[in-house]
Amino acid sequence: MSVLKGVNITKIYGNNKGGLIVKALDRFNINIEKGEFVGVMGPSGSGKSTLLNILATIDTASSGELLINGTNPTELDEKNIALFRRRELGFIFQDFNLLDSLSIKENIILPLVLDKIKLKDIEQRVDEISSLLGIKNILHKKPYETSGGQQQRAACARALIHNPSIILADEPTGNLDSKSSLDVMESLNNLNNKENATIMMVTHDPFAASFCKRIIMIKDGKQFLEIVRGGSRELFFKEIIDSLSMLGGKYNDLA
Ligand SMILES: Nc1ncnc2c1ncn2[C@@H]1O[C@H](COP(=O)(O)OP(=O)(O)O)[C@@H](O)[C@H]1O
Ligand SMILES: [Mg+2]
Repeated sequence: MSVLKGVNITKIYGNNKGGLIVKALDRFNINIEKGEFVGVMGPSGSGKSTLLNILATIDTASSGELLINGTNPTELDEKNIALFRRRELGFIFQDFNLLDSLSIKENIILPLVLDKIKLKDIEQRVDEISSLLGIKNILHKKPYETSGGQQQRAACARALIHNPSIILADEPTGNLDSKSSLDVMESLNNLNNKENATIMMVTHDPFAASFCKRIIMIKDGKQFLEIVRGGSRELFFKEIIDSLSMLGGKYNDLA
């Protein structure tokens, strides 16, 4: 079942006063099936953030068609788009975006509280997900009392707790050391394998990307290459490194 489908997505930035016009995405096609874990990589300026913003319904394409769980979000009015975003999408950001005044648990259940779900069901769901992500022992803590890796795993739990159609992750390991990156990627892997969560992740980090099952490499707003994981993660890591060297460009976005 297709969870996300973009056909001929084109995004043009610029003004009509003779300013510079940039084609950030050029007839870009993407299809993500239920239960996939897809990585998006590409040099700085290749269109990754533009793509993520369009898929997240934060920005709209200049042309092309987008379907998320069968709905074209651009056809929704303002009230329904907010609801659509809250119900159908889960977000994981580079800087965790947890609220410091709430406990880890309160942060995680926020998407359910807004939907007036029964407390008993909420408790059960938090229990399930926090065990899966290894953060059960920090649920009562405030975010600032926990490590970056723990905060990001809490953000992973929050992204999935309401069973969205797809989780969109933007450089989830960008602010983490290598040990925490491993913990977070294993957590995402768990959500994908055990909860059948559908995940799309933008990353420049080949290590993080090696946890995906499929990687789309973009360049100049177009798909440049697609690689699918066949064997071990270690083998896929090598394949990613090789592909990135073909891609060229200034690679490290965060530099
Ligand atoms: N708001 C904007 N206005 C004008 N140009 C933009 C804007 N956002 C991005 N761009 C341009 O679109 C292209 C793709 O950018 P972006 O999606 O941010 O790439 P990436 O995330 O892969 O680095 C770049 O050439 C960038 O300069
Ligand atoms: Mg970007």
